[in-house]
Amino acid sequence: MPETSLKIVIYPHPALQYASKPVVRINAKLKRIVARMFELMYEAKGIGLAANQVNLPLRLFVMNSAGKPGEGVERVFINPVLSQPSGMEEAEEGCLSLPELLADVRRPAKITMSAFDTEGNEIHERLSGLEARIVQHETDHLDGVLFIDRLSASGKIEVQEPLRDFMDEYMRHIREGTVASDEEIRARLAEWEQEYC
Ligand code: CO
Repeated sequence: MPETSLKIVIYPHPALQYASKPVVRINAKLKRIVARMFELMYEAKGIGLAANQVNLPLRLFVMNSAGKPGEGVERVFINPVLSQPSGMEEAEEGCLSLPELLADVRRPAKITMSAFDTEGNEIHERLSGLEARIVQHETDHLDGVLFIDRLSASGKIEVQEPLRDFMDEYMRHIREGTVASDEEIRARLAEWEQEYC
């Protein structure tokens, strides 16, 4: 399957609940996939995009906190591991797999990121502010966790209705045959795992 056919999946697509397995192979095709993920992220006006969100079970995500090509810094984190959370901060988040839904999420203000880049170099950094928030949101994706899973009790009630709308829309796509069945999606994810994990 060519990387050009990748697209962002929308909640409640099952790939969003998939816990990704570590990547053990980085090849030219994986680099093309990463390049395509940046394109899709920019097209959708995002600042981060995890592999689950393009229906790939790979433990990696891309990020550019400036959100525009040619601005900011493009970063790729492969097999990210977060540690040493400190402080707590509440800020509004959105997600390209939950278009137009925004809600306040409490997260540690600072976090240490360990990962690899696409050249296999080790990354070890202390992050704060927007970047700390992005890497936590995206690493959550790789564990099958969405920002709506981290809302306060009142926040969860507030998003009930929009989430129902996303569900209805997804069910409509299933009825119309414009999305694959859960079995087909899981079979495809397993194939990718065999190739890269
Ligand atoms: Co997201």
